[in-house]
Amino acid sequence: MPNFTLRVNGTEKNADVSPDTPLLWVLRDSLHLTGTKFGCGAGLCGACSVHINGTLTRSCITPVSQVVGKNIKTIEGLGANGLHPLQKAWIAEDVPQCGYCQSGQIMAAAALLQKTPHPTDQQITDFMSGNICRCGTYERIRRAIHRASAGGAK
Ligand code: FES
Ligand code: FES
Repeated sequence: MPNFTLRVNGTEKNADVSPDTPLLWVLRDSLHLTGTKFGCGAGLCGACSVHINGTLTRSCITPVSQVVGKNIKTIEGLGANGLHPLQKAWIAEDVPQCGYCQSGQIMAAAALLQKTPHPTDQQITDFMSGNICRCGTYERIRRAIHRASAGGAK
C-alpha cells in the first residue's frame, strides 16, 4: 500500500491507502477526523465538504492521490483559535437539528464568506444549494451566515 503524506489542518499526516481511496475515508478512518460526514458518497449532498487549497470540495469523490501537497482543511481545523465565528453564529442561532449535515454546511458557509464577505439572501441560497439538509434547517443557516457576516467572519 503506498504511503501518502497529507497536509491536514496545518499538520503533516501519513496514511497507507490505495491511491483511489476517497479523501473522506482517509480523513475518517485513517486520521480519525470524524467531523466530516458520509452522506451519499456520490457528490450529491455536501455532507463530506472540506476545503482543498481554500476551495470547497466534496471529499467523498476526491481520490487521496489528488490532494497530496495541497492544504486540506476540515471542520476540526476551521477555527484558528477555538471556534470559528461561523460556529459561534451556528450556536447563537441554534441551527442544527439532527446535526448530520452541519459540518458540511459550515464548511460551505466558510467558503462563501471567503469569496463574498457580505452575501445577500440570494447569494447564500445559490452558493449553499449543493448542501442538503434533510431536517430543513435552511432558514436558520441563512440567519447564522448573516450573523457571522455582520461580525466580520471570514
Ligand atoms: S457524501 Fe459527499 S456529497 Fe454526499
Ligand atoms: S440538521 Fe439534520 S440533516 Fe441537516
